Amino acid sequence: MGELLIRGDNPLSGEVKIGGRKNSAVAVLPAVLLAEGTSRLENIPAIRDVATYSRIISTLGADVGELRGGVLKIDASRLNPDVPPLELVKQIRASYYLVGALLGRFGYARVGLPGGCEIGQRPIDQHLKGFKSLGAEVSLEHGEVIAEADKLVGSHIYLDVASVGATINIMMAAVLAEGTTIIENCAREPHIVDVASCLNSMGARVVGAGTDTIKIHGVEKLKPGEHAIIPDEIEAATYAIASAATGGDVTLQNVVPKHLESVIAKLREAGIEIEDNGDWIRVISRDRPQAVRVKTLPYPGFPTDAMPPMMVLLSVAEGTSVVSEGVYESRFNHVDELQRMGTDIEVQGRTAVIEGVENLYGSSVKASNLRAGAALVIAGLVAQGETEVGDIEHVDRGYEFLPEKIRAMGGDVRRRQQSEETAAEEGEECARVVNLGQMQSAHGNG
Ligand code: EPZ
Repeated sequence: MGELLIRGDNPLSGEVKIGGRKNSAVAVLPAVLLAEGTSRLENIPAIRDVATYSRIISTLGADVGELRGGVLKIDASRLNPDVPPLELVKQIRASYYLVGALLGRFGYARVGLPGGCEIGQRPIDQHLKGFKSLGAEVSLEHGEVIAEADKLVGSHIYLDVASVGATINIMMAAVLAEGTTIIENCAREPHIVDVASCLNSMGARVVGAGTDTIKIHGVEKLKPGEHAIIPDEIEAATYAIASAATGGDVTLQNVVPKHLESVIAKLREAGIEIEDNGDWIRVISRDRPQAVRVKTLPYPGFPTDAMPPMMVLLSVAEGTSVVSEGVYESRFNHVDELQRMGTDIEVQGRTAVIEGVENLYGSSVKASNLRAGAALVIAGLVAQGETEVGDIEHVDRGYEFLPEKIRAMGGDVRRRQQSEETAAEEGEECARVVNLGQMQSAHGNG
């Protein structure tokens, strides 16, 4: 696995362009499988999860073009409901969307249980409940979800948990069902609206996305979609927090401030100055941040995915902060590694108490998942001395051109040279899904 080498203790400054939303991208790629023909997606980020998803749907007969300048074309004409390779399905959480898409289009799906970040149990019982409610026979056999239905019929579904994945997955299965489906207690994350917009560009009739009740009027057939996904509010939150934690002054281009309102409010509460200019924000940290209390909740609450990075800022704030994780039962597996860098954090169940310290110190640490890795990168930028962040592939899953973007903000970050053969493999993989043009456009404002 690769490493990042970071020399810290200098403020970030300048500009960075935020890429497309990872969790939108890994939902619209399966969503366009619901129609024959070629769909055109824009603002797709060049990240490992997109590369992995492209490979998965290619094994099912989809013809996936090269990702060029954020544009990805997918021809799902020759798609078949085969079983996607487990070794790929296990690499990401969002592979569960294949069940909704294949069930919706073919009335049959057989997909291995998903992988993804290890941050708690992460069951998919609400997804399966929705499929059953639509009339599918659903079973779990040898680690695979098998769902089949002669016909899917609209239904009234009440989610026990406001699950992002279940909301999107059931929406995908319902767009071609006969009649109307109502999903209650839906998650309201911005990318749920994004996926609904993509489906509606294909001729689906989804209303209410972004609220806790979504209505889907089934249609006979869908056509290929045309959709540009939203900017990634978690990437934006990550770089806003990095600017704040390093005492920086950074402008984030291509953001929707509304989507990270809770993060902006919390950073302002900590004494960070934030200018909101419509589609860009400027994050200025003039003095030592102040301790705050953070509770993560489903949108529009403080996003759980921004919590690990936020803990780094609070680790060097003045005073005692308290962070409560309201979504997952265990999401503090980044704390042990942060402690190696001089933080003073005590975890008690789903709550962490953070005593702010003056300085962090470079160390050798390992990323255990995507957002934990992002937190360690920020800690390396704050720390005195050099930090090595290992298993950086976790971060590459969801952050597009992270070293390049941080260097564009004046941060000292570089990849330790991998061995020749893995670098070659990485090069081939990356060349397949991203061209230099996108890298240039990605930090055209960098
Ligand atoms: C999505 O995960 C995101 N992943 C996660 O982002 C994000 O943290 C999460 O939503 C919450 O915002 C993708 O979109 C690929 P949930 P998902 O279903 O769909 C429980 C990142 O870093 N639950 O909203 O798995 C579950 O255990 C990743 O980008 C059930 O009990 O999240 C969890 O406690 C990490 N039964 C809570 O609900 C179910 O059937 C929220 O899960 C489904 C979920």
